[in-house]
Amino acid sequence: MSLFRKKNVEHMIADSARNAGLKKALGALDLTLLGVGAIIGTGIFVLTGTGAVQAGPALMVSFLIAAIACGFAALAYAEFASTIPVAGSIYTYSYATLGEMAAWIIGWDLMLEYGLATSAVSVGWSGYLQSLLAGFGVSLPVALSAAPGALPGHETLFNLPAFLVMMAITALLSVGVRESARINNVMVAIKVVVVLLVIGVGAFHVTPANWHPFMPNGWHGVFGAAAVMFFAFIGFDSVSSAAEEVKNPKRDLPIGIIASLGVCAVLYVAVAAVVTGIVPSPQFANVSHPVSYALQVVGQNWVAGFIDLGAVLGMLTVILVMAYGQTRVIFAMSRDGLLPARLSKLHPKFATPFFTTWLVGLFFGLIGALVPLNVLAELINIGTLAAFSMVSIAVLVLRRTHPDLPRAFRCPGVPVVPVLAVAACLFLMVNLQLITWIAFVVWLVVGMAIYFSYSRRHSALARE
Ligand code: ALA
Repeated sequence: MSLFRKKNVEHMIADSARNAGLKKALGALDLTLLGVGAIIGTGIFVLTGTGAVQAGPALMVSFLIAAIACGFAALAYAEFASTIPVAGSIYTYSYATLGEMAAWIIGWDLMLEYGLATSAVSVGWSGYLQSLLAGFGVSLPVALSAAPGALPGHETLFNLPAFLVMMAITALLSVGVRESARINNVMVAIKVVVVLLVIGVGAFHVTPANWHPFMPNGWHGVFGAAAVMFFAFIGFDSVSSAAEEVKNPKRDLPIGIIASLGVCAVLYVAVAAVVTGIVPSPQFANVSHPVSYALQVVGQNWVAGFIDLGAVLGMLTVILVMAYGQTRVIFAMSRDGLLPARLSKLHPKFATPFFTTWLVGLFFGLIGALVPLNVLAELINIGTLAAFSMVSIAVLVLRRTHPDLPRAFRCPGVPVVPVLAVAACLFLMVNLQLITWIAFVVWLVVGMAIYFSYSRRHSALARE
């Protein structure tokens, strides 16, 4: 039974109410901006190219499918966030509902998600930095421009800009620089302006003939691209981790999560329509900065330069948010005794988990330097989709075990919507490649081995 030992939901809610130390300053609009800041990044700026090759112009449909899957999961997520407004995201939620072993799996999963997401976004950042530098006639040695095997036909060894940007972000985080709401708002403005620029300028260069054939690889291509493009929406969940700093979490959190997702879905579909309308889709193969590339192709070099600059600036916040989420999940798991106490030790001067921050920063920095982006994206997606399915199941469990808990936001259509969320997540998972599944299973097996050999015995709950 110890596998299912749970934290007490009522205690957690009471703790968070007492924990009034954090300033409650965020409203629904701030949360939406926080979400958009975490969402728009490598997915739309870089993976759009891979997606266009796979789905053709029907990439628009792939984005819609991914958005709908996220929407179902977001509704379940929002019920959780509004019921148990504590920091630590779904790892903490599941500890209270599904029990320790499930919480461990989710936490272990989130480490994969956030960690590899920082690597992936740093790779995307590197592509745009290099495009920006090329505009000034500067280019890196090919060997240092990308991971081995990332550019077929080129001898690439190490993605140096990706590694360096991770080190810079790690240095900031380790001394306690967090993304402030003001910086985030500026970054969101930059990203949204850049995306609107792509849509506004690009629309005048669309050749509708490029939209035929609409689905060159059939539904298979569309679904496969949806499973990859799911990556572009990851980040809406970060809204829930701000729960303790929200003025009216019960109302504002669900609005923040759902609004940020909706805004991004509309922008993404429009970008997909424009770029596949400008350039024949197969031409995006191996382009590391597809969005600015589309505008270069039609001679809009100035606009492309602004897009490169905006993407380079805007992706920084995504790395920061993900890296912060990563350290926070590890911190929470270590505090609960599931990981060694060393990992939640705070630096005496900076009051940050200094050691953990550098440990994961170096590790995932090297991964970003050495592993191609598409491999990373699939792995992140499978981990996240698994976690979202579990959240949706947890909503159903919580309704049964704690039917009377006050829920400001109730997921509509229970049990249908959470069940649809699980089905949609599983469907996208099925459309990922076999190799991704193998890597995921290996990750889970390693996780279970650690749980049974270490965490189960050291769990703080067990010691109580
Ligand atoms: N959604 C985030 C991105 O696209 C992870 O970069």
